[in-house]
Amino acid sequence: TTTNFSLQFNNKVSNEIKIEPKDWMPDDYRKTLIRQISQHAHSELVGMLPEANWISRAPTLKRKAILLAKVQDEAGHGLYLYSAAETLNITREEMYDQLHSGAAKYSSIFNYPTLTWADVGAIGWLVDGAAIMNQVPLCRSSYGPYARGMVRICKEESFHQRQGFEVLLTLSKGNDYQKAMCQDAINRWWWPSLMMFGPPDDQSPNTLKSMEWKIKRFTNDELRQKFVNVCVEQVKVLGMTLPDKDLKWNEDKKGYDFGTINWDEFYQVLKGNGPCNTERLETRKKAWEDGKWIRDAATAYQQKVS
Ligand code: 3HC
Repeated sequence: TTTNFSLQFNNKVSNEIKIEPKDWMPDDYRKTLIRQISQHAHSELVGMLPEANWISRAPTLKRKAILLAKVQDEAGHGLYLYSAAETLNITREEMYDQLHSGAAKYSSIFNYPTLTWADVGAIGWLVDGAAIMNQVPLCRSSYGPYARGMVRICKEESFHQRQGFEVLLTLSKGNDYQKAMCQDAINRWWWPSLMMFGPPDDQSPNTLKSMEWKIKRFTNDELRQKFVNVCVEQVKVLGMTLPDKDLKWNEDKKGYDFGTINWDEFYQVLKGNGPCNTERLETRKKAWEDGKWIRDAATAYQQKVS
């Protein structure tokens, strides 16, 4: 009976036994996992676009090769995550339809433009840095396929973060123009990176259940705080500043207090009114249409050989 199944499910979660695709799970658990994993996958795919803008404009061949490797990694992350989501009985086509129709979200951060080469550094350091903060705990998520996909993704994320920081470090040792470019990118990417962690806990409809089911191990605000604490130290190495005059060490909480995040901006971006939302979605839809002949050829071949 369902009660026995749900007892078994709750026992597994509380005893840290992974839930696997063939296990019984509450419908809402399945639904929230499909929601989170598919949107995570969409974020990886859309996340390739801002940086792709600089692959042909990288300042050296070495930088071009590193950026190319990073963007290819993001594509791979997307495919791992779509595969993890498929184990929950949703098809790849359904997920793509949800992205293209606007029914599914992707991370707000990818709706901002990459205006200079320093943006590639700021994205690596801040966006991939925030992603690591958020994704390391997901390696311990209660759903097996998601947790295991995260282990591989986190290893690559660390390379993404390091190469981004190194781009900024190089610029911070350059001439005044390069220093200004570095600071400008940090100023533009700092606040949107804090928004990546999601709304404040008291405005997060999913956090409570996700914590109970051990999908999430920390709340949005807890991870955001950890991220701020780390970045305040790292930005000193760059000799740069973070664009928040309210940053102040708080001995009681052993962390930095920081300024107010512009949640109106966050919700506007989620509604599709960010600087690049239309462009990003149009690019994804065009890629899907342009790839139709390859999918059709592969299907035709499959039918021929089977
Ligand atoms: N961008 C877009 N939507 C966001 C968002 C953001 N930054 N933060 C929250 N939301 C959405 C949520 O999806 C939810 O909407 P939904 O119910 O329609 O899905 C709503 O806002 C309320 O947020 P909640 O906090 O209640 O939702 P969650 O509990 O799902 O928490 C999350 C949001 C922290 C993003 C969580 O979904 C998560 O940890 N996802 C996995 C990690 C992820 O997706 N990261 C995105 C970046 S991927 C990346 O950076 C790639 C790297 O290689 C660069």
